[in-house]
Amino acid sequence: MQRTLVLLKPDAVQRGLVGRIVARLEDRGLRLVAAKMLLMDQKLAHRHYEDHVDKPFFKGLVEFMTSAPMVAMVLEGKNAVEVVRQMMGSTDSAKAAPGTIRGDLALDTRRNLVHGSDSPETAEREIALFFAPQEVLGYQRDVDRWIATGP
Ligand code: RTP
Ligand code: MG
Repeated sequence: MQRTLVLLKPDAVQRGLVGRIVARLEDRGLRLVAAKMLLMDQKLAHRHYEDHVDKPFFKGLVEFMTSAPMVAMVLEGKNAVEVVRQMMGSTDSAKAAPGTIRGDLALDTRRNLVHGSDSPETAEREIALFFAPQEVLGYQRDVDRWIATGP
């Protein structure tokens, strides 16, 4: 079982696509084990995209990501990191394959609706940026108890 961080970027929230994107991920069999809506600040944007600091698109990327609220989620399932990456499609939405989230719902490179961690190691680092350990539900392990008794 693997976990990955998914961000529904400001364009997903503004366009009212949150429910449809979450439904696609859940339909695939991935389990939602944490979720929150937040406005990303400069510090979080820099930490989250630290690998891109020197890229020419970095400034525009941070401006976009901090421009409006987003939804952060942790999804759990077999091979979750790679499965989500496949479901997202290519970074440039105009080149993303039909059947992918970007390929079906977007056309832009920056405004490409979703982020998904690109490796299990990255996922651990990114999940810790957005969620405290106690905010992530031990879904598979505790689901029966959760349904029976609540938190
Ligand atoms: P993400 O990190 O958001 O999951 O997307 P990704 O792996 O598919 O793409 P990545 O190369 O990590 O780039 C991060 C985000 O930066 C924006 N971007 N703009 N040439 C450009 O204008 C450009 N290239 C990338 C996109 O929002 C991309 O998702
Ligand atoms: Mg990336």
